[in-house]
Amino acid sequence: MIVAGRQGISIYTPSPHNNVKPPFVPNFYPTVTPDDIKEALKQVKYPGFSRDIVSFGLVRSAALVGDTAKVSLALTTSDPKIPLHIKQEVDKCLRALPGVKATVIDVAVAPARTASAPGGNLGGNAGAPKTIKYAIAIASGKGGVGKSTFAVNLACALAQLLTAQGRPGRVGLMDCDIYGPSVPLMIGLDGRPQVEGDNLIPMEKHGVKVMSMGFLVDDNTPVVWRGPMIMKTIQQFVQNVKWGELDILLVDLPPGTGDAQLSLVQTLPLDGAVLVTTPQPAATNVARKGGLMFQKVNVPLLGVAENMSYFLDPTGQKHTIFGEGGGQKTADSLGTVLLGQVPLIPEIRAGGDAGKPIVVTTPNSPAAVTFRDIGDRILLQLSRKPVPGTT
Ligand SMILES: Nc1ncnc2c1ncn2[C@@H]1O[C@H](COP(=O)(O)OP(=O)(O)OP(=O)(O)O)[C@@H](O)[C@H]1O
Ligand SMILES: [Mg+2]
Repeated sequence: MIVAGRQGISIYTPSPHNNVKPPFVPNFYPTVTPDDIKEALKQVKYPGFSRDIVSFGLVRSAALVGDTAKVSLALTTSDPKIPLHIKQEVDKCLRALPGVKATVIDVAVAPARTASAPGGNLGGNAGAPKTIKYAIAIASGKGGVGKSTFAVNLACALAQLLTAQGRPGRVGLMDCDIYGPSVPLMIGLDGRPQVEGDNLIPMEKHGVKVMSMGFLVDDNTPVVWRGPMIMKTIQQFVQNVKWGELDILLVDLPPGTGDAQLSLVQTLPLDGAVLVTTPQPAATNVARKGGLMFQKVNVPLLGVAENMSYFLDPTGQKHTIFGEGGGQKTADSLGTVLLGQVPLIPEIRAGGDAGKPIVVTTPNSPAAVTFRDIGDRILLQLSRKPVPGTT
């Protein structure tokens, strides 16, 4: 039995021949374990986030040796202030633990992806496959604004554009909505992906390679996700899916700016984010918050896409059901561009429900043309940004 007191650690071994009671130690406190240290480090938030460094996976090891707490951290950032700040906070936190008189804090810092294209990578688990040229998040903030519909149609539009440039099979779509994955239904895919060793082979439709939690969990099984599980799943979608050579990987995010968004930012260096919003203030206000989150972690905003911008009635008259100008306003306030305005039309909804995206079924419709225009703009913006070490 180990008893720790202010006087130090004394060892008391009970035996059948030894009737001596353990020494009375007035200021008793238990030995601090690595788990205790990690628990305490949950008080240290990543600068600018409400999430802590432990749940971000930045703590590599923790131990108390004598009266010295030793902690090692790994993070990826190009901002020298961040490791410094985290180190100071960790030191404060460790010194508040019982029995800790000194600290050794080792912080391994890897630079973010490139200087010109920082990629908003917070954590130490970085590792986008080198075969993926550009990874783009499709985000919104508010739910139900049509992100998944937009992501599916944009992916199909990009596949058409790249195929026309002699680059077929170079678009991927990763459905990170683990709570309500809708991409398989919207793109018309069913069944399970094949497994090759430790890797999953993405399913393919309309020239787009797709991975979704919807392929892996039963429709009727509610899944209760915790932060670390979300992180692990997103990591696996990035690292254990054989995407092959991709020019562009679109990542459809669940609504909000919570765990999934932050885990993604930590796991996959993003080359950009597209914000989807409807025109009304209820959506644009949250979209703006989402945009600020990406800017905070150095993910460049490629622009805002306004969905459900107007309804065209059979006589050809425009009705701005959700108001006007929200997309442009959001883009202006974030210092980015409005990529395009997608109409609210029954064919888009029906195409989503039937797994037949309008871009594929009616490629010459005004909506399909809008999606390809947006795709063109995104490709143009990305082509101006060199990413070393990729083909
Ligand atoms: N431009 C559009 N015209 C008509 N219907 C649309 C349009 N965009 C989306 N919808 C419909 O709106 C509904 C919500 O769209 P979707 O699921 O893509 O939104 P989401 O932002 O991904 O939602 P969530 O936040 O739950 O992930 C769907 O039924 C979809 O078919
Ligand atoms: Mg969705």
